[in-house]
Amino acid sequence: MMEKKDIEQLFDRIDKFTADKLQDVEDLRVKLLGKKGEITRLFDEFRTIQPELKREFGKHLNELKTKAAEKIESLRESFADIVEKDTLTDFTKPGDMFELGTRHPISIVRAEILDIFSRFGFAVAEGPEIEDDWHVFSALNFPPEHPARDMQDTFFINPEGDDPILLRTHTSSVQVRTMERQKPPIRVVCPGRVFRNEAISARAHCIFHQVEGLYIDKNVSFADLKQAILLFVQEMFGPQTQIRMRPSYFPFTEPSTEVDISCNICGGKGCNICKGTGWLEIMGAGMVDPNVLEASGIDSKEYTGFAFGMGIERIAMLKWMVNDLRHYFENDVRFLREFQSVK
Ligand code: PHE
Repeated sequence: MMEKKDIEQLFDRIDKFTADKLQDVEDLRVKLLGKKGEITRLFDEFRTIQPELKREFGKHLNELKTKAAEKIESLRESFADIVEKDTLTDFTKPGDMFELGTRHPISIVRAEILDIFSRFGFAVAEGPEIEDDWHVFSALNFPPEHPARDMQDTFFINPEGDDPILLRTHTSSVQVRTMERQKPPIRVVCPGRVFRNEAISARAHCIFHQVEGLYIDKNVSFADLKQAILLFVQEMFGPQTQIRMRPSYFPFTEPSTEVDISCNICGGKGCNICKGTGWLEIMGAGMVDPNVLEASGIDSKEYTGFAFGMGIERIAMLKWMVNDLRHYFENDVRFLREFQSVK
């Protein structure tokens, strides 16, 4: 039968109890308050004691239970402090990873193209993205009725104005600005963002990036153009790379050509990237039309030059076999992280 001294003894034990570790606290809890714990058992016995004793014993028992719970709680808290302190001072814990950012693949290819041409003696020239008609079209020998001047192809800012303001559709505008400013010899590469009014798909975007190049001096010939492009593609895609030139048309060059490289995936045998042809188109180029030189104040009898232009996204797609242009604009970190190891 329950006696007063049983309860007092337990009060005493709880008071004197000390714990060396968190497990001791848990052991105490089970011993006192668990299903078969000593205090739990006293509560069971309480149901059978004489009614006149219930009031006194009930009060004591409740106090005992509260005391046990408080003791356990405060001991637990004292250990929680230690656990926390330990993590602060544990110098053997592995450090947190510091995530490094990556350069965007378009920036990587842009830098590589500029680096190659800088070794050939080309300087970098930049110009405005918002341009006038003169620098994008008229100075480049575009006839007034040329379809590129149509709103379907070009984003105009003030289509009604006498001198239309527009978003440049190519960085050839920077070549014009360079020729206006500088006397030959001129050797520049012009990187930058360009804009065309096109529906967005895997192969086209209304914003993309170009690097265009211009070389003007006495006696610059088509052979110089061919050699410069060959050297460039072999630096970019490997020394085994071959080029092929197909006749083409641009208002600002004559003769004009479209340049293909031998497919770097199948080595020219034919695959689904090159659609079985063994060749991949990478740029437009040609000899600067004398009208263009004259429009910028350069004597076309004394000087000749070549120009070329390529899309950075296109070069990057071929280099890394990316099959959808949109990846370059979505900034999905899973895609961008793939370039983490590229220098
Ligand atoms: N400007 C042309 C384009 O945007 C590329 C080009 C540049 C072609 C220079 C020939 C010479 O497509």
